[in-house]
Amino acid sequence: MNVVAQPPEPLAANSLERHWMPFTANRDFKTAPRLIVRSEGMYLWNHDGDRLIDGSSGLFNVAAGHGRREIADAVHAQMLRNDYTAPFQLGQPTSFALASALANVLPEPLDRVFFTNSGSESVDTALKIAMAYHRANGEAQRIRFVSRERAYHGVNMGGVSLSGMVKNRETFPAVMPNVAMIRHTWDARACFTRGQAERGAELADDLLRHCETYGGATIAAVFVEPVAGSTGVLVPPKGYLERLRRICDEHGILLVFDEVITGFGRLGAPFAAHAFDVAPDIVTMAKALTNGAIPMGAVAVRDGIYETVTGAAPGDAIEFFHGYTYSAHPAACAAGLATLRIYEDEGLFERAAALSGYFLDAIWSLKDIPAVRDLRGMGLMAGVEVFPEDGRPGARGAALQKALFRNGCHVKWTGDSAIVAPSLIAERRHVDEIVDCLRRTLEAI
Ligand SMILES: Cc1ncc(COP(=O)(O)O)c(C=O)c1O
Repeated sequence: MNVVAQPPEPLAANSLERHWMPFTANRDFKTAPRLIVRSEGMYLWNHDGDRLIDGSSGLFNVAAGHGRREIADAVHAQMLRNDYTAPFQLGQPTSFALASALANVLPEPLDRVFFTNSGSESVDTALKIAMAYHRANGEAQRIRFVSRERAYHGVNMGGVSLSGMVKNRETFPAVMPNVAMIRHTWDARACFTRGQAERGAELADDLLRHCETYGGATIAAVFVEPVAGSTGVLVPPKGYLERLRRICDEHGILLVFDEVITGFGRLGAPFAAHAFDVAPDIVTMAKALTNGAIPMGAVAVRDGIYETVTGAAPGDAIEFFHGYTYSAHPAACAAGLATLRIYEDEGLFERAAALSGYFLDAIWSLKDIPAVRDLRGMGLMAGVEVFPEDGRPGARGAALQKALFRNGCHVKWTGDSAIVAPSLIAERRHVDEIVDCLRRTLEAI
């Protein structure tokens, strides 16, 4: 392993104690910290000076690779030009420029953009937009939402209400009422299916059953991750998303694609909506919008939703009572504009499509390892699931994430599934390095 030129600062005793870390086993971490002190391109360097390859592009957000000077320079220049503008009843040019640039990569007909600071805020904003839209449209009775088992829609209370992950729900029982769940699409009988399974489109008919039980005209929106990411990369069966779209159309229900992970090239197309050729009414995004450099999220809606909500209020009135102090922060907008420029100049979405076959071949080469229970994947995103320890689901995954780190690779695990999602700048040798590290680590079980 390479050693960083600059030695790291020594850690003072107890210097980690004050920070209550998110989604982390705090006590375990603080006994043997895994600290990253530098990052560049496909690589990270830890506190001991070891180099690691980033197999999950951070949290699937560093799509253009780490340490992009173009983004840092754009943010620096913006901070010196105008560091902050109150976003309510006031504006600054970069947000309008970013919304226009986004409209060029978004799936048609989505071309109105509301800015947030994270994926979680985007999901809660989308919930509110759906409510505001139906109310403005004279259908205030649409008070129900539909989500899926094994869904992850962030950590704010709206997103938790839509969550289908038990650990994210059981501690927080006081969630939004009127959320119904449809089944997830993972099929234990179809393990090792690469891309979309041939069978399973009929699972979308769960939505029809909710329409028949509650009345389709009481449902405001259906939220789906086109490929469920945080429960280990669940690719939808062929025809499934199309069927959801059809049922939504028949009942006047909004279809929301949560593209916080799948947005910006992850599936080898700008958005999953392009990859599956299904047009949602609303798309939520975050993560790769700024290449992970500055927190930012966004919600894109079709014209008719924006027109209906704004048109229902008097011309000089605030139409949508929602927004954040840091909505469309100038530094984030500058980062977003620089990021979109990189994606275009370097053709990174096309590059992801071109590398996908090699990447999935490499992942599928792990099939012979006895510990591997399932492989799933599409584009530059793959789930590697291992058999759980008896009676301790998730324990093996947590141990493997640490073992991989020791072996020179960062890969994010969720339960007993690794989510492998390298940056879109990855080359074949990087894929090989990630998969070699996975093989060495999984074979040692
Ligand atoms: C589909 C989806 N929605 C929402 C979120 C929440 O995003 P954030 O962590 O930026 O709040 C995530 C995060 O992974 C996600 O995958």
